[in-house]
Amino acid sequence: MTSSATKPRGARARAAIAAKTLRTDRWWLAPLITVIGLGAWVTYATVRVFMHKWYWVEDYHYLTPFYSPCVTDRCIPEASHFGQYLPGWWIIPDAAFTLPFLLLFRLTCYYYRKAYYRSFWLSPPACAVPDGHASYGGETRFPLIVQNSHRYFFYFAMVISLINTWDAILAFHSPEGFGFGLGNLILLGNVIMLWAYTISCHSCRHIIGGRLKNFSKHPVRYRAWGYVSWLNVRHMQLAWITLGTLALADFYVMSVAAGWISDLRFIN
Ligand code: FES
Repeated sequence: MTSSATKPRGARARAAIAAKTLRTDRWWLAPLITVIGLGAWVTYATVRVFMHKWYWVEDYHYLTPFYSPCVTDRCIPEASHFGQYLPGWWIIPDAAFTLPFLLLFRLTCYYYRKAYYRSFWLSPPACAVPDGHASYGGETRFPLIVQNSHRYFFYFAMVISLINTWDAILAFHSPEGFGFGLGNLILLGNVIMLWAYTISCHSCRHIIGGRLKNFSKHPVRYRAWGYVSWLNVRHMQLAWITLGTLALADFYVMSVAAGWISDLRFIN
């Protein structure tokens, strides 16, 4: 990722090779898939967030994570588990208190940075392929210095995961009382994956096991650090899995709320 603008002192210049890259494999495939995957997800999420309908299933109390917590005065009152504080203007998302933080949490995530730096900014698109830009300023100046605030967005993400968990618990409902259906499995699966993604965060790993001189005096933190580290090496997979579970949970709730399908009920 080093260019002439940031080349360490004493580093030698790139060999005089005419070809842009000597790689002959399909190095462009991974960035291309990333562009298609992230582009499709962001398009879907944007449409859904500004649709302002089909986010709540009254009979079973299913609430899509894209509208949680629902805080505008346009929200269906039963779907507003934490109150209504904002006017229901079209431009204001119904989950306006959480979506910006979730967006910033993902945007500043170490994995997503790698993904969009490579795929969208071509900086660089792959190993041993030249940067798409003449210079590289790194993350020490505005705007990319904001990436360093990731650890703070992690705390917000923890609170939002708690809210999503609460929504999933409240969804064990039927018109008669307790109920359980396919929607519960989907919402629950989404919450479990969201926790796994959040806890596997690099900032979380540092909070759990960082700033210690030796682990032997902190066995509990060492053990927790081991669990988080196990998840941490799967962070990329969890980043993609949670995009999938979020979209699935939202699409399922939308389909039931719109009356396109009926929820498969195990306990009515
Ligand atoms: Fe990806 Fe923190 S590094 S969520």
